[in-house]
Amino acid sequence: MTAKVYTIASGKGGVGKTTTTINLGTALAGLGKRTIVLDADIGMANLGLTLGLEKSEVTLHEVLAGKANVKDAIYDGPNGLKVLPSGISLQGFQNADPEKMVEVMGSLVENYDFMLIDAPAGISKDGVIPLAIADEVILVVNPEITSVADAMKTKVLTEMIDSNVLGVVINRGGTTTTELSNEKVAKLLDCNILEVVPDDVNIRNALAFRMPLVVKYPESPASIAFKRLAASLAGMEMPDEDEEVVDKDGFVNRLSLALFGSKVPDETEEVVVKKGFLDRLALALFGGV
Ligand SMILES: Nc1ncnc2c1ncn2[C@@H]1O[C@H](COP(=O)(O)OP(=O)(O)O)[C@@H](O)[C@H]1O
Ligand SMILES: [Mg+2]
Repeated sequence: MTAKVYTIASGKGGVGKTTTTINLGTALAGLGKRTIVLDADIGMANLGLTLGLEKSEVTLHEVLAGKANVKDAIYDGPNGLKVLPSGISLQGFQNADPEKMVEVMGSLVENYDFMLIDAPAGISKDGVIPLAIADEVILVVNPEITSVADAMKTKVLTEMIDSNVLGVVINRGGTTTTELSNEKVAKLLDCNILEVVPDDVNIRNALAFRMPLVVKYPESPASIAFKRLAASLAGMEMPDEDEEVVDKDGFVNRLSLALFGSKVPDETEEVVVKKGFLDRLALALFGGV
C-alpha cells in the first residue's frame, strides 16, 4: 500500500512543526502503523536532534548530495518509528540538492502506511517541494496573528500548486486570554481544526531526555492531543488506558469519508490514489514549482 504523505508546515518558524511531526509520528507508530518521519527542513534541521540522532554520519544531506543511499540514512526511533534526519552542519546543507527530495520520497512511499514530512518555515524552494508532494498538508500555528498571517501564505501557496490543506493544528493555546480564539483561527485560515495542543511544559522536559513527549510523558495534556490526532488520521478510536486499539471498519470508512471525501480505497481504488501522488511528483519534478 502506498503511504499517506502528510507534510507538517507553517508560515513562521518555531511554532511546533518538529514537535508535531515527532509526536504524531511516534503515536502513529504506536498504533501499529508503519510510519516514517523525514526532516525536510534541511537548513535548520532539528528532527534528529530531538531524538538524539545528531551524531548520525549518514543523513538526508548525504542522500541529497548523491553521496549515500537512502536506506543508510534511516534510523530506528521509538515504537518502531523510522526516522530520516537531516544533518546539522551548514556544509552538509550547502551540498544537498533539494530537487532530489522528490526522488527520495518517491522511493520510500511504498514501504510505509504514513510518511510525515517536517517542512521548513517560509516559502523558499526547498519548502515548496514538500508542499507539492504531500497528499495532505497539515498547518501548525500558534494562536497569534503573526503566526496565522504567515500560515495563510503557506495555505495559498499550497493551493496554487494544486495540493490540499487537510486542516490546522493549533499549538500552544491556552496561555493568555488575549490570544486568538480557535474559531477565529479556523475562520481566518478557512480550514478545519484538526487538534488543539495545549502549551505543555513536559515538551521541554521530554526534549531534555531526547525523547518524544508521547513516550516520556504519555498522559500529559499535549500527549493526549497528539495521540488523539494520530488515532483520527489512522481511522482508529483513541484507546483508553490499558486498552487495546480498536480498528472498527465502519468507523474507518466514516472517518475517511469525512476527511477525504471517499471510503478507504480498496485494491482497485488504490491506483487512483497512486496516480494523485505521481501527478504531484511530476508537477514538482517537471514544472510549475
Ligand atoms: N505545545 C507546546 N508547549 C510547550 N512548548 C512547546 C509546544 N510546542 C512546541 N514547543 C516548544 O517550542 C519550540 C519550537 O518548537 P518546534 O517544534 O521546534 O517548532 P518548529 O519546528 O515549527 O520550528 C521548541 O522549543 C518546543 O519544545
Ligand atoms: Mg522545526
